[in-house]
Amino acid sequence: MAKITFLTPSGEKVTVDAASGSLMEAAVEEGVEGIHGDCGGVCSCATCHVKVDKDWMERVGPASEDEETILELEDEADERSRLSCQIEVTEALDGLTVEVVEE
Ligand code: FES
Repeated sequence: MAKITFLTPSGEKVTVDAASGSLMEAAVEEGVEGIHGDCGGVCSCATCHVKVDKDWMERVGPASEDEETILELEDEADERSRLSCQIEVTEALDGLTVEVVEE
């Protein structure tokens, strides 16, 4: 079980308990504002775009090549950007904070 905190575009802080699956799935299940997961998690829509807290970037790891390709199309993307459907929830991510990027 990992506690993941999402900072929503309207400034809300939502912490979810996630056991498995992706960060996107955990967020959609809890109805976190700004995370839609329109493509179902196959890395093609970017409606799950988040920015990882700087202190966590190493533990979360870098984006894959496919993910980078999608993120390059996003105006808001920067070096902290990830697609949350591509981040697998593990115990190691307990305490992670990500910022939800408004579409
Ligand atoms: S849910 Fe579509 S890219 Fe993540």
